[in-house]
Amino acid sequence: MKSSGPGVGLRTREWRPADHGRRAVSEANPARVYNYLVGGKDNYLADYEQAQRFLGVAPEVRDTALSNRRFVHRTVRHLASGGISQFLDIGAGLPANPNVHEIAQAVNPRARVVYADNDPIVASHGQARLTVSGTTMVRADIRSPDDLLGHEELRRLLDPGQPVAILLTLVLDYIEDREDPIGIVRRLMDWAAPGSCLVLSHGTGDFTLDTDREWEVISFEDPVSLVARDRDQIMEYFSGLELLDPGLVQLPSWRPGIGAESDPSRVWAYGGVGRKP
Ligand SMILES: C[S@@+](CC[C@H](N)C(=O)[O-])C[C@H]1O[C@@H](n2cnc3c(N)ncnc32)[C@H](O)[C@@H]1O
Repeated sequence: MKSSGPGVGLRTREWRPADHGRRAVSEANPARVYNYLVGGKDNYLADYEQAQRFLGVAPEVRDTALSNRRFVHRTVRHLASGGISQFLDIGAGLPANPNVHEIAQAVNPRARVVYADNDPIVASHGQARLTVSGTTMVRADIRSPDDLLGHEELRRLLDPGQPVAILLTLVLDYIEDREDPIGIVRRLMDWAAPGSCLVLSHGTGDFTLDTDREWEVISFEDPVSLVARDRDQIMEYFSGLELLDPGLVQLPSWRPGIGAESDPSRVWAYGGVGRKP
């Protein structure tokens, strides 16, 4: 906000959050932009402006993000109702409303949820806000799955001898082929007990007809490169797992609920659930 100059009238004090410092709020952060897109409140003006630039190029991005959250809700409710009581949500993002533990614990109050994310802002928000029994947030990078699986908080809350639902929703998009995303998923599922499930959603270019949109208007201070993959590539993550019905489909088509859904042509992501035999 502008002040009225020295000696003239009132000076207004500029508000700055103490914890994140000037850089964090004056520059867009990908997790906060996503938080804005899904209707969250943990975002600032720079994130809003970045989101508007995004939506100017591709309004489908919001449909995809919202549809993804609804996919998370349906899959978690389905798996909790089927008896899974442990959840590992990797690349969890800023606390969403409702979050995974609220859905799982509505079905089973004893359900336990470990959230993980490599973004320090996401991790500190989660650690401050996730005070509910049976939940925790760890700062971890999926590219080092052994560090994540060995984290003392994860080991405190999750029993590797019992089935666990591992959520990788719109996060493998951040992992380049040379970083071996398939090997990462395999390592996680090798760790998980039989009966465990992989909940996965992933962005795709399969439905983007016009490739000449001006994507270069969207850039972050710390650049993020997202990898869109086609259906066959995404299917590879489910190798060795039994795909639950209806298989790998566009997000609105995975066991649709009764609520409003986006037109599938505007949802640029696939989702599916695989069970470890
Ligand atoms: C698009 S958001 C998805 C949030 C949530 N999974 C959902 O489906 O609503 C992607 C999240 O993945 C996190 N992320 C990106 N790369 C990661 C990595 N290498 N390890 C852990 N988290 C990562 C980002 O910080 C961000 O919070």
